[in-house]
Amino acid sequence: MKQFITFINETLQAAFEACQYDAKYGKAILSNRPDLCQYQCNGALSAAKTYKKSPFSIASEVSTILKKSPYFKEVNCVMPGFINLTINDALIASYINEMACHPKYGCDEIGQNQTIIVDYGGPNVAKPLHVGHLRTAIIGESIKRLGNFLGYHMLGDVHLGDWGLQIGLIIAELHRRQPCLVYFDENYNGTYPENPPFTISELEEIYPAASTFAKKTPWFMKQAKEITYQFQNGHKGYVALWQHILKVSITDLKKNYENINVSFDLWKKESDAQPYIPQMIEDLKQKGFAYLDQGALIIDVKQSTDQKEIPPCILVKSDGATLYSTTDLATIVERMALYKPKEIMYIVDKRQSMHFEQVFRCAQKTGLVTPETKLTFLGFGTMNGKDGKPFKTRDGGVMRLEHLIQEVSDQVYNRMIENKTIEASKAKEISKQVGIAALKYGDLSNQIAKDYLFDLERFTSFEGNTGPYILYTVVRIYSILNKCQSKRVEVYDIQCPTDEVERDLMLKILQFNEVLTNSFLEYTPHRICQYIYELSNIFNRFYHQSKIITETDPIKQASWLKLISLTKDLLVCSLDLLGIEVPNQM
Ligand code: ARG
Repeated sequence: MKQFITFINETLQAAFEACQYDAKYGKAILSNRPDLCQYQCNGALSAAKTYKKSPFSIASEVSTILKKSPYFKEVNCVMPGFINLTINDALIASYINEMACHPKYGCDEIGQNQTIIVDYGGPNVAKPLHVGHLRTAIIGESIKRLGNFLGYHMLGDVHLGDWGLQIGLIIAELHRRQPCLVYFDENYNGTYPENPPFTISELEEIYPAASTFAKKTPWFMKQAKEITYQFQNGHKGYVALWQHILKVSITDLKKNYENINVSFDLWKKESDAQPYIPQMIEDLKQKGFAYLDQGALIIDVKQSTDQKEIPPCILVKSDGATLYSTTDLATIVERMALYKPKEIMYIVDKRQSMHFEQVFRCAQKTGLVTPETKLTFLGFGTMNGKDGKPFKTRDGGVMRLEHLIQEVSDQVYNRMIENKTIEASKAKEISKQVGIAALKYGDLSNQIAKDYLFDLERFTSFEGNTGPYILYTVVRIYSILNKCQSKRVEVYDIQCPTDEVERDLMLKILQFNEVLTNSFLEYTPHRICQYIYELSNIFNRFYHQSKIITETDPIKQASWLKLISLTKDLLVCSLDLLGIEVPNQM
């Protein structure tokens, strides 16, 4: 469905052209004086410079043409050369009725089934999920859902970290604790036990213990590195242990992600890219891109236009080890071979931006991707505590994700009990759902790249720009619709608005497809949050002034019910695209 703004822009363009001006000046924006008009066009001001004429006279000429259009109720030309536009109510109503019948409320499937890989989550095996993993999961999930909704073939890949030193550390620590395990017996030739020699809680305790110990014990660190090397080169016992680690970890990770409504299409791992490395390196050498520098194999990626120093990309260190960048390059090779994506997006901490700059340049320069393949780094900012530093537990440790969720849910529960709108048992039941909504919305309502403050009080408030407020609004609409269930709404269309608030609600509704589409194309889920917040505010104003349930004019009541039902659909749909579920009561 054509975006509403496009109707207006096309009309404006035609009008500028009819007056012999370039069509490009015909562009409308939402009015910044909503008391005067709904949209405005400032094109005459720019055109004035080009055509050396007064902006007001250009605006007047164009306005004369616009006044003939059936789309506008009012066209006003004001000093110094603005064109103020008020839309005809009939156009508003007909557009909204069309939206209500459209399977995606007016959004076109612009994706045409093109494949986009979203690399998000990025947990590391054997390390518990903590708040640092929260943002990538929340943002990635939302972008993936939004892309699917707009007709792209989105492939969310968790890209599990299962290849680094952490594996060597865990195995070394296991060896220290249980040296007699069969995995360490170099003469053992049989098959290894099916059951892992540890549980997930043991595993999660082993890693930090090993990591702390290694920091103060050089021989242990050395051993862990050796084990890592041997494991990466196929040591049988270590590989068998690694497989146990993977299995135990993945089961636990899946449970944790499910808990926050995040799911991946692909559970690929860093290790899956390793088989692509030898051939890739060979090709890069052959083609003359990779060369030896002080024993290391590197590729230059700097460009003459660089403002800052971009160091070369290292493929193989002088000791023969490959690096994080080697794995990421090989992952690109793998993804191109298996999925032929038109774009790969990475949702990773913005502190990794240099790494991705190097990897992308390298992939583009050496032709690992086609010239059309888009590589996008969406670096996110940190969730900070009140002290302005990355969020920590009260005693300064890294907060586990499940503990954070518990804390938020408890706070939501307390609020619901204070508000007394719901029984305690019901509040208990939905507090986690609302808590996760509070957390996700609190995150997504910020620009991706910005750091933000984790403010438990604010996030869980039932008023203001928060998840609970939006959910509360949806639940309110459900309740009105329930009370009016017997009304035969379907026989009537949504009628023209009869007052300002109803008109405002409609004008907000018809921006839906524009907001969603732009929010995807510009990677800005926070704009969806802003939109549903505004939509909720206007709806609540409308609700307070219109007696929907007791309205006696059946046509009017049916029209209103349809209008609020559409409002509810847009809110539910947007929330779903943000990865947020709506409870049936609050
Ligand atoms: N596991 C990595 C980390 O903890 C994040 C992975 C991000 N994705 C990637 N393709 N490098 O930092």
